[in-house]
Amino acid sequence: MELSSKPLPLQTSKTGCAVVAVFADKTLSEDYKRLDSASQEAIGRLIKAGDFLFKPGQMTWVTPPAKAAYQRILLVCLGASPSDLSLKDYTQSLQAIARTLASRPVGTAILYLNGIDALSSHTLGFWAAEVFSKQAYRYTTTKKPKEGVHTLKSLNLSLPKAQSKAANQGMAEGEAVGYGINLARQLGNLPGNICTPTYLERLAKTDKNFSVKILDEKAMAKLGMGSLLSVSRGSAEPPQLIVLEYKGKTSKQPHVLVGKGVTFDTGGISLKPGAGMDEMKFDMCGAASVLGALAALAQMQADVHVVGIIAAVENMPGSRATKPGDVVTSLSGQTIEILNTDAEGRLILCDALTYAERYKPKTVVDIATLTGACVVALGHHASGLFANNQALANALLSAGEAAQDRAWQLPLWDDYQKGLDSNFADMANIGGREGGSITAACFLSRFTKAYSWAHLDIAGTAWHSGGAKGATGRPVGLLVNYLLNA
Ligand code: BES
Ligand code: MN
Ligand code: ZN
Repeated sequence: MELSSKPLPLQTSKTGCAVVAVFADKTLSEDYKRLDSASQEAIGRLIKAGDFLFKPGQMTWVTPPAKAAYQRILLVCLGASPSDLSLKDYTQSLQAIARTLASRPVGTAILYLNGIDALSSHTLGFWAAEVFSKQAYRYTTTKKPKEGVHTLKSLNLSLPKAQSKAANQGMAEGEAVGYGINLARQLGNLPGNICTPTYLERLAKTDKNFSVKILDEKAMAKLGMGSLLSVSRGSAEPPQLIVLEYKGKTSKQPHVLVGKGVTFDTGGISLKPGAGMDEMKFDMCGAASVLGALAALAQMQADVHVVGIIAAVENMPGSRATKPGDVVTSLSGQTIEILNTDAEGRLILCDALTYAERYKPKTVVDIATLTGACVVALGHHASGLFANNQALANALLSAGEAAQDRAWQLPLWDDYQKGLDSNFADMANIGGREGGSITAACFLSRFTKAYSWAHLDIAGTAWHSGGAKGATGRPVGLLVNYLLNA
């Protein structure tokens, strides 16, 4: 899709759709007046008839007369008023507009946004591009696309000339973030028999935007990653540690992102129940968000320095699989008694987090579908956030707010550490049932003492279940926003 902002003449493509914004306070913009008179008052007649109620979010198709400048007009009530339009109202209206446009074979859509002063030109452009890019994603790898769903060829924002530059800059960034989100969604949606650790390794290796380093099973064994390797032991799929580096024009120390990439989590010998187990193909969404965030930053040629570390494994039962009670030695030298093989995420992350030390990172953020307990605590709206540095936690919280991809901080107090005591190793890999996402974070904190670190538990936010089953691409938006401001 082509995305741009320019001050457009009224007369444009015949296959186009003009999207005209009005507001609950019944403000009618110059754009509105021009369009209405160019379409022989078709919009005005509809309003006069009382068919349009000016409720925020309301929209209706207007059929202009045959000789009008556009084939279609979509009249939309964006929000309260041009000077009081919340970001949430704006993006929700954009989503509804994108969905509505996809129901008809519209080639070009022109959004007339003149006169909205509640939001900056950059913000107007950014969110239009992000929302429309996300809307254009379809999963087609193993299923034919639905009929009657159309994709726009181009989207233009009509804004005064003075606003075009900032709006275009915003659109380029929003499109890049949308691209990263869609990449994360696609990888999440791929079934476990396609998206294996080796699939992720190949994907990373063929991307020219990054310098890539792969540690295979042998290399990891040589380094002493006994914890990570204990998870992949039961699987025929070899584990992969994938390290990607992106460096724009900057000489700064890198920020490191570490992603949980369990391409399928059966639970291992501590086997999961069958119902809903298919959703454990999404257990690599942390890894997918690392790839998505890096892809977005590369696409916008951001001047940041980021290293992504992806721990990719498949967690399977098998004759060689790790058993409850087994003790392994992590890369840090600390020993771990594995009391539950289904608490495998922390076992792969701890070795990846120790490995991250060698990059002398400014900050390290790990992203993982780590605990069902996090879903119980926060539901599906916020990702769980834990940090050993409050400034980092605050930066991630504000990034989440700005990107509309929110996180909520949970405690990482020492009081919770006792739960991990073991009689046979330096620590056990599980605490009690209660506060399960906190004890999981406490486990990770034992491997992250060398740097400023935060952990995002995305178990409740990375995918939707039920009829709309599919990966969300979260928290790519949060991560990109954080890194651009870090
Ligand atoms: N990948 C799961 C966490 C998960 C479960 C995410 C359900 C989303 C939905 C993780 O590997 C896991 O199995 N965690 C266990 C930990 C427990 C054994 C301490 C859990 O949450 O039940
Ligand atoms: Mn598990
Ligand atoms: Zn898991």
